[in-house]
Amino acid sequence: MGKRWNQERKEDPYYQKAKKEEYRSRASYKLLQLNKKFKIIRKGDRILDLGAAPGGWSQVALEAVGEEGRVVAVDLQRIRPFTEENFKSIKGDFTTREVKEEIISALEGQAAVILSDASPKLSGIKDVDQMRSMDLFQAVMEMCDSTLRYNGSLIMKLFQGPQFPEMLKTVKKKFRMVKTTKPPSSRKKSVEMYLVARGFRGTR
Ligand SMILES: C[S@@+](CC[C@H](N)C(=O)[O-])C[C@H]1O[C@@H](n2cnc3c(N)ncnc32)[C@H](O)[C@@H]1O
Repeated sequence: MGKRWNQERKEDPYYQKAKKEEYRSRASYKLLQLNKKFKIIRKGDRILDLGAAPGGWSQVALEAVGEEGRVVAVDLQRIRPFTEENFKSIKGDFTTREVKEEIISALEGQAAVILSDASPKLSGIKDVDQMRSMDLFQAVMEMCDSTLRYNGSLIMKLFQGPQFPEMLKTVKKKFRMVKTTKPPSSRKKSVEMYLVARGFRGTR
């Protein structure tokens, strides 16, 4: 990342707010704003956070679920642990079978909510990036089938592009209520969108 990116980041009000309020990332505010609006995470919930490093969403999720809940976070990067005992992190690629098995065992039951703020590593080559984005999307969909409880919810980042309508259609088949939204803390120039889905229909 260049000098200009660093400068813009420092001037960003959410970056400053995160520093002041001791959130691990400015991304925390996206989940805070989404959860305030849609009331997805409840006390005691078991949450799976995909693409979680450095842990900003997990931090918000831990606050929301309280001591009775559980947060399992997965990322290619190591996530610095939290002091809470009901937090478990996994370093690995959630699109792989081994990591999926680790997730299932760490959850110790079905998840009430799946969060995915995962972004593919961008190559700059349009076709390659769209394919990577689709692979992550498919992996999140499979994760819903294998770990999400009936009537559970999903909050997921998606990128606007030619595959967006197809992705939306897939989610609508799996969930009863689906909304797309862009929280105020998501940068206007970013093509990211957030999808909030409730009422998982289950796999049967
Ligand atoms: C925007 S960051 C997440 C920020 C996080 N929500 C927060 O609040 O701190 C996206 C993350 O997705 C992770 N990621 C991308 N593909 C992944 C994969 N296949 N398996 C695990 N993590 C992945 C990246 O390593 C990166 O840390």
